[in-house]
Amino acid sequence: MIVTGASQLAGVIGWPVQHSRSPRMHGFWLERYRIDGAYLPLAVRPANLKAALAGLSAMGFEGCNLTVPHKEAALGLVDEMTPIATKIGAVNTVIVRKDGSLLGDNSDAFGFMENLRVGAPGCDFTDGPAVVLGAGGSSRAVCVALKEAGAVEIRLLNRTLERSENMAKAFGAIVQPLPWETRANALDKATLLVNTTSLGMDGQPPLDLDLSLLPLGAVVNDLVYSPLTTDLLTAAAGRGNITVDGLGMLLHQGRPGFKAWFGIAPEVTDDLRTFVASDLVS
Ligand code: ATR
Repeated sequence: MIVTGASQLAGVIGWPVQHSRSPRMHGFWLERYRIDGAYLPLAVRPANLKAALAGLSAMGFEGCNLTVPHKEAALGLVDEMTPIATKIGAVNTVIVRKDGSLLGDNSDAFGFMENLRVGAPGCDFTDGPAVVLGAGGSSRAVCVALKEAGAVEIRLLNRTLERSENMAKAFGAIVQPLPWETRANALDKATLLVNTTSLGMDGQPPLDLDLSLLPLGAVVNDLVYSPLTTDLLTAAAGRGNITVDGLGMLLHQGRPGFKAWFGIAPEVTDDLRTFVASDLVS
């Protein structure tokens, strides 16, 4: 598609940004819905984030996504935050409003929950504890989503206990921080297991987890999507658990931004999945 002076513009700001699959996803939607627009990868050093965000409106951008390492840094750089972005403590979607001011939103909790709803329609995490591995930025989004969806208990296991204890302070009694070494026992009676750590990702160490105590009715979701089918998902599916991969969260989290910038609510379809997944190892 040829970009013209009339094209609506958005993009993803990251450092580095080459790894981002967002240009592929939004590019697919722009073609699918025949929108005169462009979605660009924007490599911005951390020191330049403030200037880059301030320049969005001046350059005629509708907004942008933010990825590593900018999501938390953007907190003080937007004019207003949505309640969910405030709760998560990070911005992944910026919308330039008509007056040029910036609204900071976060669609990661939405993306996580939509992915679960579609991938495991019967999943009822109001029925028992959810186990969440990791206490980084993605974990915060997952815990916000679970809490808002009525989860009764979140067992949070992180290598650095202090990080999960800090999350428990922020979230209240629903989050129970547990030592990383106890992760196999924490699976007892769980209805949902979510891996938000980088373990199992290409180039990272494996996730060492004994699934014996995990009920067979529990849903297992790995946020890692490279590879698409992680060892955790293979092991869980092999013993009969319903599994949900991490690519869906990426695809669903893109929907609110696309709608805000380009005016059309995009759909996550099988051909979008295939297109975005085609450069991932499965
Ligand atoms: P994200 O934004 O994707 O959540 P992050 O904030 O860097 O990324 O969080 C990475 C998560 O993976 C953290 O929970 C981290 O544990 P620590 O808080 O102890 O650092 C976890 N992680 C990374 N490498 C790990 C490893 N080798 N063993 C256990 N956990 C690991």
